[in-house]
Amino acid sequence: MENLIEVKNLKKYFPTPHGMLHAVDDVNFIIEKGKTLGVVGESGCGKSTLGRTLIHLHESTSGQIFFNGKDITFVKGKALREAREQMQIIFQDPYSSIDPRKTIEATIREPLIVSRKFGKSEIDEKTSELMNLVGIDERLRVSYPHELDGGRRQRVGIARALALDPQFIVCDEPVSALDVSIQAQVLNLLKKLQIDRALTYMFVTHNLSVVRYISDDICVMYLGQVVEKCSTKELFVSPLHPYTKALLSAIPSVDIHHPMKRELLKGEITSPINPKPGCRFVARCPYAREACLQPQKQEEVVKNHFVACCRVHEI
Ligand SMILES: Nc1ncnc2c1ncn2[C@@H]1O[C@H](COP(=O)(O)OP(=O)(O)OP(=O)(O)O)[C@@H](O)[C@H]1O
Ligand SMILES: [Mg+2]
Repeated sequence: MENLIEVKNLKKYFPTPHGMLHAVDDVNFIIEKGKTLGVVGESGCGKSTLGRTLIHLHESTSGQIFFNGKDITFVKGKALREAREQMQIIFQDPYSSIDPRKTIEATIREPLIVSRKFGKSEIDEKTSELMNLVGIDERLRVSYPHELDGGRRQRVGIARALALDPQFIVCDEPVSALDVSIQAQVLNLLKKLQIDRALTYMFVTHNLSVVRYISDDICVMYLGQVVEKCSTKELFVSPLHPYTKALLSAIPSVDIHHPMKRELLKGEITSPINPKPGCRFVARCPYAREACLQPQKQEEVVKNHFVACCRVHEI
């Protein structure tokens, strides 16, 4: 398998009046071509910042991002424009990414025009193709975003992201704002597009059922760091990090033989501003010990199953 994305020691810090906010702090992972990496974790743990940094909507603070084996971390000019074309994003709320004053057709064709790669008739043709691809009726060409329901609006967001035929798409909570009945349709569309167009996804969500359905592998983030990383199957069968365990035990279970266990998280959330060097989960962790105040190394506990917890073998 070829790697499309490789991230090494990636950091994204934001300066704030109170110090440096460590939004993404030393993150490492690989995404193979055609696969989906799910990224889960609580609000504010850095999922969106990670996605945005990957596709160069934020400049990295340090570390490396490889795309198709090429280090693109700090590329500028033409190389940056090319990288940005190859890496797109779909947002939770298409309202924030699409202009309410533009028609559907104008929204989808905008990236085609901006790229200056296509003539007028080609742009018309591609716009129709994209609308078909995502299942939007051509009669909606001259409608406005507010005239569409959430599911169709998200389809417009997807069409726009696909316009320049990218290889990689960050899906940032793409179904969280949709009715449950529509969520499955959009997820299935994303899955179909992935196969048809050999797309690679990073899929950000805090919905564990969604991430389980869509991802091949999962990274669990806690305050800017990846605390656990493995295949989706493995994560749900044998979660190892105390935070992952707590996260998974909070899913309401419908299986009467395994009634819901809630290991509710207690304790204060550590601040992401100037964090201490030890485990960031320490204040809420039921297994915390002295050793947890030291920096936690990521260890491959089982093949391809990485955990950043010094107590992983004892608990
Ligand atoms: N542009 C910015 N400037 C300063 N701080 C930021 C900026 N963007 C994000 N942050 C901070 O970085 C941290 C991570 O935020 P981020 O939006 O990436 O989290 P998230 O996991 O996507 O959360 P959510 O699930 O709520 O979308 C938060 O503490 C947030 O306040
Ligand atoms: Mg987010």
